Amino acid sequence: MAHLKNDILLKALLGETVERPPVWMMRQAGRYLPEYMVLREKYDFFERCQNPELACEITIQPVEIIGVDAAILFSDILVVPQAMGLEVELVESKGPVLPEPIKTLSDFDRIRVPDVNETLQYVFDAIQLTKKELGDRVPLIGFAGAPWTILCYMVQGKGSKTFDEAKAFCYTQPAMAHRLLQMITETTIAYLKEQVKAGVDVIQVFDSWGGLLGPDDFESISLKYTSQIINALKDEVLTIIFAKGAWHSLEAMSKTGVQGLGIDWCITPQMARKLAGDNITLQGNFDPAKLLSPIPVIEKEVRKMLHDFGTRRYIANLGHGILPNTPVDHAKAFVETVKEWRKESVMSDGQ
Ligand code: CP3
Repeated sequence: MAHLKNDILLKALLGETVERPPVWMMRQAGRYLPEYMVLREKYDFFERCQNPELACEITIQPVEIIGVDAAILFSDILVVPQAMGLEVELVESKGPVLPEPIKTLSDFDRIRVPDVNETLQYVFDAIQLTKKELGDRVPLIGFAGAPWTILCYMVQGKGSKTFDEAKAFCYTQPAMAHRLLQMITETTIAYLKEQVKAGVDVIQVFDSWGGLLGPDDFESISLKYTSQIINALKDEVLTIIFAKGAWHSLEAMSKTGVQGLGIDWCITPQMARKLAGDNITLQGNFDPAKLLSPIPVIEKEVRKMLHDFGTRRYIANLGHGILPNTPVDHAKAFVETVKEWRKESVMSDGQ
């Protein structure tokens, strides 16, 4: 791996001393950037994902425009169900739609654990190109959805606030649900191993709907499978789990072998640290809606967040994806405030 000029994200994940926390934003490669909107008008969503030149350009945009300390590959978690054989559409103002979701045993005839080099090669090509274009500027983050979050879409067939049909599937047909979760897990392990071979420096697993499950169900339906993924990758790459809302299982997640745990804004940094222990890097947890506040308020709130987390084993980020209506200068203010943070300010603000 080429020596990176800016490797503070990697250092923070390894627990090494950094002079300020690294900063990036979940969903940073996307809709709030006017430069992205131009490409969005010309190409449809999966075309943007499947064309390595476009994916590379969109991935690098926030590095150049906002100045974040890491790039995250432009792609989507739903390329995995696509590769497994399900049709996935992105419908304007509705979000993802899977017209023929998994409901019964016969639906398993339509899906398989694919050869990822046949079905997802475009992602690995995009990674190779992006690594080349990024040069030694910042690390590149690869990702996948957690098996439970992917099952949510494969069974419900669309976005939902509750994913009640996906839950009902798990509770009424547990054998089928676990078979599906295992198929997603095997696909995801093969997929992420190839992302690592193609050059990503860090892997983040997005469990966006982990918090819909109670602690016991989270353990048996979600973490059981995410753990297999982390276990398969932990000797090859640095890993982060972001399980939104699943703060109750921070301790369990900290034992999987991950270096980083993402948290949302509904838990204090102090409580998250207590639950996760001292040997994990915490990542988060600014409420993305707060980026809609006036810039001076953003600056003040970010400083409070940095003070509360401290500089040790910490990555500044949002507590979920950036909202599409975020003004670009507000996103820049978030990143700049972190970059200006120095230990001295901890002393003067904090005592
Ligand atoms: O972080 C990044 O910028 C990298 C790219 C990325 C996208 N999706 C691009 C995208 C990442 C990491 C994702 C992950 C993703 N996709 C998640 C997990 C993270 C989270 O936010 O919870 C989920 C649940 C999805 C599924 C998905 N894809 C939804 C619900 C939607 C529609 C609503 C939305 O958030 O925009 C998408 C489409 C999507 N994925 C867009 C982008 C830039 C918007 C497409 C557009 O309108 O241009």
